[in-house]
Amino acid sequence: MTQLADRTPDTAAPPGTELPQSRHLATELPGPRSRALMARKASAVAAGVGTTVPVFAARAGGGIVEDVDGNRFIDLGSGIAVTTVGASHPAVVAAVQAQVEQFTHTCFMVTPYEPYVAVAERLNALTPGDHAKRTALFNSGAEAVENAVKIARHATGRDAVVVFDHAYHGRTNLTMAMTAKAMPYKSGFGPFAGEVYRAPLSYPFRDGGLSGAEAAARAIDVVEKQVGADQVACVVIEPVQGEGGFIEPAPGFLPALAAWCRENGALFVADEVQTGVGRTGDWFACDHEGVVPDLVVVAKGVAGGMPLSAVTGRAELVDAVHTGGLGGTYGGNPVACAAALAALEAVERDGLLARAREVERLVKGRLHALAARDPRVGDVRGRGAMLGVELVGEDGLTPDPALAAAVAGAAKAQGVIVLTCGTHGNVLRFLPPLSTSDELLHDAFDVLDAAFATTTTTTAAAR
Ligand SMILES: Cc1ncc(COP(=O)(O)O)c(C=O)c1O
Repeated sequence: MTQLADRTPDTAAPPGTELPQSRHLATELPGPRSRALMARKASAVAAGVGTTVPVFAARAGGGIVEDVDGNRFIDLGSGIAVTTVGASHPAVVAAVQAQVEQFTHTCFMVTPYEPYVAVAERLNALTPGDHAKRTALFNSGAEAVENAVKIARHATGRDAVVVFDHAYHGRTNLTMAMTAKAMPYKSGFGPFAGEVYRAPLSYPFRDGGLSGAEAAARAIDVVEKQVGADQVACVVIEPVQGEGGFIEPAPGFLPALAAWCRENGALFVADEVQTGVGRTGDWFACDHEGVVPDLVVVAKGVAGGMPLSAVTGRAELVDAVHTGGLGGTYGGNPVACAAALAALEAVERDGLLARAREVERLVKGRLHALAARDPRVGDVRGRGAMLGVELVGEDGLTPDPALAAAVAGAAKAQGVIVLTCGTHGNVLRFLPPLSTSDELLHDAFDVLDAAFATTTTTTAAAR
């Protein structure tokens, strides 16, 4: 790869970070240091742990990741929707440093500490609904999803868990059962947990014009006939689907499901692991239609890059669980809690909900212009800074995963981190940190436009 000069001016780095906010290719990709580290990785790290971009990170700040060879990438992935407030946000860094100097761990179940309680108070206030709430903290998204199911089963005395086509809820045993896609998440890892049932989703691009209410009726019919309404402990849904393809259900779908849950004594559980904490332009994606879940699962963006997750829900449901029934050695680690308090404050102080909506306007403008030129872009969708395009063949419908992989690869080769997703792997998803400047976004989408213009690869099926 030839050396590429900066194409954007070095705008000022966010306070506290020294990383220039510009794309810069200093070496071929991957560079020599990354290649050496990749060789070490291959002989030391489990092959099952894959990597998307073949370079090793050295620093990250704002909307930029710099690798060990000095190449700077525009980050349209945020470490899979985690660094929503910006990589190495100075307030998060300062909060982590201050907490580390006090103590790193006591175990909240042994000697509790204030930051855990403060995070619970913040999430109780910020999640949808003004009813009394309680929160329990965990480490990963999957762990929190599992605990939401534990709470739902305990509170209702029922077993069945309803999930949806294309769902992704994690890689632990129960969440593998809840996740839809076999490869790479489930293949060879069974048997899976029982009492998990899958219903059809609202998928406007592929639903043939079904309204949200009609799609909900279709899903409810499956649940009532195949599971039984009185058996359902909870309906667990991503309000905008993440790994499954950034699928935004038709308006009315989520409210109808939530209403059915209320009428039938089942809990409505929103898995907001990827959508939560400002990512979609609201604090939580459920806010968009005024849906109030019984339990909300939060992770990823909540702690500015530190591992923390939460279940927040109606006090009487969460408190139905006996003492000792919830918890874990590291759940609500004090350093992660300090980071979360700083990150949640940054969303407010930095005006990031409004910024997410601006990002949506800018990026959707670019993507609609691309779709108008290139019929392989079948659908532009998403909300806030959680946006995607579904790529298809000449018939306008057949998924084209090879094109998605080729375009993402071409963008990475020019210094833009782009992730793919979707059951068919044919969706490009865009999740920039909300601190990313307009200039950086335009530069990234210039690269993407060029990647589309120069990529002719399509799957045989899509031709
Ligand atoms: C909606 C959703 N739920 C759960 C998870 C699992 O989270 P984790 O990887 O932290 O276990 C993810 C991760 O991508 C997710 O997007």
